[in-house]
Amino acid sequence: MFTVQTANWVLGQVQDFGRLRQRLYNALQRRLLPSPVKARHGNYSMVYSEDDSVSRPSQRLLELGIESARCASTIDLSDLVGRIRGRLRLPDNFMNLWPGEHYRLLAGLVQVMRPKRVIEIGTAEGLSALTLLKYLPEDGSVVTFDIVPWREYPGTCLEESDFASGHLHQQLGDLADREVFMRHQRQLIEADIVFVDAPKDGIFDERLIANLQTIQFEKIGRAHV
Ligand SMILES: C[S@@+](CC[C@H](N)C(=O)[O-])C[C@H]1O[C@@H](n2cnc3c(N)ncnc32)[C@H](O)[C@@H]1O
Repeated sequence: MFTVQTANWVLGQVQDFGRLRQRLYNALQRRLLPSPVKARHGNYSMVYSEDDSVSRPSQRLLELGIESARCASTIDLSDLVGRIRGRLRLPDNFMNLWPGEHYRLLAGLVQVMRPKRVIEIGTAEGLSALTLLKYLPEDGSVVTFDIVPWREYPGTCLEESDFASGHLHQQLGDLADREVFMRHQRQLIEADIVFVDAPKDGIFDERLIANLQTIQFEKIGRAHV
């Protein structure tokens, strides 16, 4: 009989396979393209020509980026750093590092845009959700999606009280899945900011983008990052 346990087991196997594939890929890259500098963590990236690029940032997005970066330079997340207390395999204060980490820039975006509805994809330990929440206007809300319930996420920095105010909600579901996406599309259509921080494995992102292309955002000119 196909039960919820069986479905979870299958999901676990697929995730394990995805992680194994990523580790093999990283090992191969390290062998073929060794890093010229020593660092705790590194990713390969590519630089493309701009003259034949398929899209250009609008003036609004450029200004938003500049304003948010200006805010990020004075934002202080040390209260949230206090939530980490050795739970991660990184120095606690990594999230307050800017430039370098994305948290202060995310906070800057919220300060500048004053969004009413924020969708996050990828809750994990909850650090970006807490950052979004800290700078949200009084009538704003954050819905954070993940496939793992926050209480079961190893090293979670979230607490029950974060959800008590009603400004933060978690929803479980894979928005790369067409059916799940259709169920939640209204929330995405109405969002002011969609922050995607789920697996960057080239599979999830492509499926999510294909789904996003089927909807018309109501708040065009807002930030979908
Ligand atoms: C990089 S972590 C997110 C980090 C978090 N945003 C932060 O800054 O604190 C990626 C998260 O994506 C979640 N995830 C993996 N596949 C997913 C999917 N298909 N849909 C939603 N979340 C997914 C993982 O469980 C993990 O919690």
